[in-house]
Amino acid sequence: MAKQGKNIYFFIYPLTAYIQGEIMNLTERIQKLKKEKKAVILAHNYQRPEIQDIADYVGDSIELSRKAMLEQDAEIIVFSAVDFMAESASILNSQKKVLLPSLGARCPMAQMLTADEIKRAKVHYPHAPVVLYVNTLASSKAYCDICCTSANAVEVINSLDADTVLFGPDRNLAEYAAEKTGKTLIPIPEWGFCPTHLLFQPEDVTILKQQYPDAVVMVHPECSAEMRKVADFVGSTSKMCRYARETTAKTVIVGTEEGLLHRLRKENPGKQFIVAYKDAVCPNMKLITLDRLYTALKEEKHVVKVPEPVAKKARSALERMFQVTS
Ligand code: 13P
Ligand code: SF4
Repeated sequence: MAKQGKNIYFFIYPLTAYIQGEIMNLTERIQKLKKEKKAVILAHNYQRPEIQDIADYVGDSIELSRKAMLEQDAEIIVFSAVDFMAESASILNSQKKVLLPSLGARCPMAQMLTADEIKRAKVHYPHAPVVLYVNTLASSKAYCDICCTSANAVEVINSLDADTVLFGPDRNLAEYAAEKTGKTLIPIPEWGFCPTHLLFQPEDVTILKQQYPDAVVMVHPECSAEMRKVADFVGSTSKMCRYARETTAKTVIVGTEEGLLHRLRKENPGKQFIVAYKDAVCPNMKLITLDRLYTALKEEKHVVKVPEPVAKKARSALERMFQVTS
């Protein structure tokens, strides 16, 4: 038995060393290419650890949009995230070439709301402003008054001189913002959701709390109302990072995509982070790999470009969001 264990060790060790060597190699090649092509890599908090580690900046959707908008030196922005985030970057900084390393990296929630659905809702509520979560395609953003992210939805809705607001596509974020603002939010569509955040269930938190009675719980507003009820803190991915830094608790139960735990652990070596449901993975975010990032940079693909008439309307909704939020 002991001999067998030793044999496995002899097999596994060179294999791991080889894989590590390959990653190192690829990382170096990406760094070299990045310099040659004057590129900057922006990565979302849900990206794979190796993508977060190679990125120039890691953040939530509002932070990444702001970074992309203010980027001056780079000629290429490699957006390691999903489609709608790369679209926003291109809309906000149309002079730059924006690359999405995998065309398949599409947020399913963003596909849940079409421009036609917004037009239909407007017929029923002609006086209600339309607020769209940034997790939408540019073709839908073109029909809204203002955008918001999970970090600023409450601030954006409070800035509006209206008590009834059309809001899409995430129903959970709509309910959360309605609770916080006291306004009536009409969800468009009625059922929009994030398939990854839907996986979190309060009973898992109850079990974890029995194991870790001193732990605090933080969740993303895309989680259900039942999950928000068991949470000590609700916020965007970067707001969760701030909460994790500031809490005196040594153990934190996390209700969001597991990619965030890499950053949380890196920034807080003395604390323990436990994802509330270990299979809560966004497969779309994970389509960005080092290989694909390298190829994207080398071949300058896939270029994300929104046709200017649509981009112009979507840009004003995004810029309005920046004007009313801090
Ligand atoms: P954040 O803006 O909080 O990073 O969220 C983006 C997202 O896609 C959540 O699922
Ligand atoms: Fe879209 Fe959900 Fe993935 Fe965020 S976690 S990108 S909302 S599918």
